[in-house]
Amino acid sequence: MKVINTIAALKSLLEPIKLGQQKIALVPTMGALHKGHVSLIKIAQQHADVVVCSIFVNPTQFTDPKDLEKYPRPLEHDMQMLLAAGCDVVFMPSVKEMYPEQEEWHIDLGPAEFLLEGEFRRGHYQGVTQIVNKLFNAVNPDVAFFGQKDFQQVLMIENMVAYFKLPVQIISCPIIREDDGLAMSSRNIHLTAEDREHALVLSAALNYVKDHFNDLSIPVLLENAKDMISAIPGVELDYFTIANGKTLLPETDKNQPDLVALVAAKVGQTRLIDNMLLN
Ligand code: PAJ
Repeated sequence: MKVINTIAALKSLLEPIKLGQQKIALVPTMGALHKGHVSLIKIAQQHADVVVCSIFVNPTQFTDPKDLEKYPRPLEHDMQMLLAAGCDVVFMPSVKEMYPEQEEWHIDLGPAEFLLEGEFRRGHYQGVTQIVNKLFNAVNPDVAFFGQKDFQQVLMIENMVAYFKLPVQIISCPIIREDDGLAMSSRNIHLTAEDREHALVLSAALNYVKDHFNDLSIPVLLENAKDMISAIPGVELDYFTIANGKTLLPETDKNQPDLVALVAAKVGQTRLIDNMLLN
């Protein structure tokens, strides 16, 4: 496994591979790796000859400086995970390497940028697409893998790819969960034992909606799911919605395609998100 820190070194490693007609996959991450990240690498290996995983805690996508400061960075552990997963190349640039100077540009990600996470984390998706665009430029991948866990993120990246007509295929991969249903996340390590117990209500409420989708109306499903969540102490709901998976606008007609239930809540001091496809 090669560990690379600069864009120049990455390009000189990957350009001959690309010229040799081999397929390159990119799995962008911010480190603190768990089985969810590993699942993306495993899927990437089935689609490409060379898998590049990037680890970069991207400052421009954090809307809360404290969140950036306390973001976990367990480097040794990450390297072991990537080695065990059979990753070929790890790209771990410095902030200076990715942002040599201040950048002010914005791109049009469509109206869904400002809904859901975009409403609670203003500017978040400009930061995400900014770094993913830079990573695409550095790696020039044929295909890139993202988790459905960050449902809106995949949509925003797909919008950016369409906007710039980037020559990269985007593949969304299933959410990996703990045995009890909690969606894996680098932020889960901030949960106390009590928070961890309380956090289970998020996946439970999503499962409830999925299980009763054929029997109840959308307003009733939403009311019951929100009641389940508000009954749990220490869980502060930001949103629970059933939306169109392309526009993220709320949907009340169950016969529409691409419906997804999405939830975000603060559990203790930790903000968690989760979602589930409904049809
Ligand atoms: P990070 O949170 O490290 O996640 C990296 C990738 O892993 C994302 O595509 C995310 O959706 C996926 N992922 C996280 N938890 C998962 C789970 N439980 N199951 C499946 N996939 C999961 O998302 C980011 O980093 C950043 O925003 C990034 C795209 C790297 C840009 O900085």
